[in-house]
Amino acid sequence: MTHSAISDIGTFSMHHDPVDRDLYPFFAELRSQAGPVWSPRHKSWLVAHHPTVRDALGHADLSVEKMDPFIATLAGDTRAKLDRINDVLQHWVVFNDPPNHTRIRRALQQVFMPKQLRQFESDVRRIVEEMFADLDGRTEFDFIEAFALGLPARLVCQLFGVPIEDADAMSRWGHGISRFVMGGSDDQRYDDTLADLKQMRSYFSDLMAEYRTSDDDSTLLRRLVGAAGTEDGLTYDEIIATLVLILFAGLDTTANALGNMVLTLSSRPDVVDAVRADPGIAPAVIEDVLRFDTPAPMVTRVAKADLELGGVRIAAGDRLILLLASANRDEAVFDSAGEVRADRPASPHLAFGRGIHFCLGAPLARMELRVVLLALVDRLPRWTVRTEGLVWRDELLVRGLTALPVVVDATEGSA
Ligand code: HEM
Repeated sequence: MTHSAISDIGTFSMHHDPVDRDLYPFFAELRSQAGPVWSPRHKSWLVAHHPTVRDALGHADLSVEKMDPFIATLAGDTRAKLDRINDVLQHWVVFNDPPNHTRIRRALQQVFMPKQLRQFESDVRRIVEEMFADLDGRTEFDFIEAFALGLPARLVCQLFGVPIEDADAMSRWGHGISRFVMGGSDDQRYDDTLADLKQMRSYFSDLMAEYRTSDDDSTLLRRLVGAAGTEDGLTYDEIIATLVLILFAGLDTTANALGNMVLTLSSRPDVVDAVRADPGIAPAVIEDVLRFDTPAPMVTRVAKADLELGGVRIAAGDRLILLLASANRDEAVFDSAGEVRADRPASPHLAFGRGIHFCLGAPLARMELRVVLLALVDRLPRWTVRTEGLVWRDELLVRGLTALPVVVDATEGSA
């Protein structure tokens, strides 16, 4: 793949070649410009500098309510399908501006309290141990299949209070909705998404009926359902939509973060050794890994009013792509930004966003990453990955691998 110069931006596609999907040189070129750059191909402003992305994430006139203006540009059958999909997505906290956002987020914060999530750490440890046991001493395995996909799906089963056997369905639905929202390149995805939403609606309706007749409030979502109808509670449609959102927001992002972490650390045995020597540095390493190879590399916004951003005039109605992954490599903010460090001082990285939409699942994701990293360090004295032929997922807004073969050095011990 050759990387586009800024002058080629009209034809530059961020989908790229999935085998060599290295957008970082392109992001560096964008950052060499003074401010946001208009991309005719994406019909959007590309925002690449850390301070500008940070300001945009906090800008009151940059809206996340993007579906309606997008649907308005469509016609016929496609528009009808999108309208039906939007019946669910319009309730997502991440697609709502204040005041609706404030109300929904307040209700969800009851569920995503870090204090309550801590009880899940022992579940995560147990699931990871079971996953290692399933490897059955193998000296080569696909990390994405063995850990990255299964762990978040099983944890979501715990969150929802549904049988672990349903993890595959959670995974499939989560991946499907992610392909739709994240802009996979096939058009079949509208029909697939509608079919998935029908199944999810039926599954979650049954679940909610069960929750209503139960006194048990041990799972987080039972508490959410318990609050339905109260002043601070969500409506029935909002709860269904939120369950779908958690599958979308919690599964693939975490799976990609896990895969990117293992790939990144495979070329940094010194950092792995440092974690082995002092497990207390694991959280700092994880923050720098999230910065270095950001699993949700970009988020989008639409301007509600004329405004100025990074020295550029943005007109009402213009779309913006906020390149979190580029901001996280901005040398003006991060020394040796192209390198993972175990000792980076408190990092203002934007991997979980910033401001009112800051990721509600960040404490959960950080905990999953930490438990897996410490288990890998503990269980596998040495590992490498086969980097030849790695394939990146082709969704525009996602950075994650489809498979990641890990080879365990059997001479020093194995799983
Ligand atoms: C490493 C894994 C994860 C990454 C990189 C990630 C990234 C993000 C980002 C960048 C946003 C901001 C979106 C925007 O500003 O438009 C966000 C929002 C959100 N995330 Fe995550 N996320 C992860 C894991 C999770 C998990 C595990 C959950 C839930 C179980 C979750 C739930 C949410 C929710 C509900 C929002 C919307 C918050 C709002 O709009 O107020 N995320 N996430």
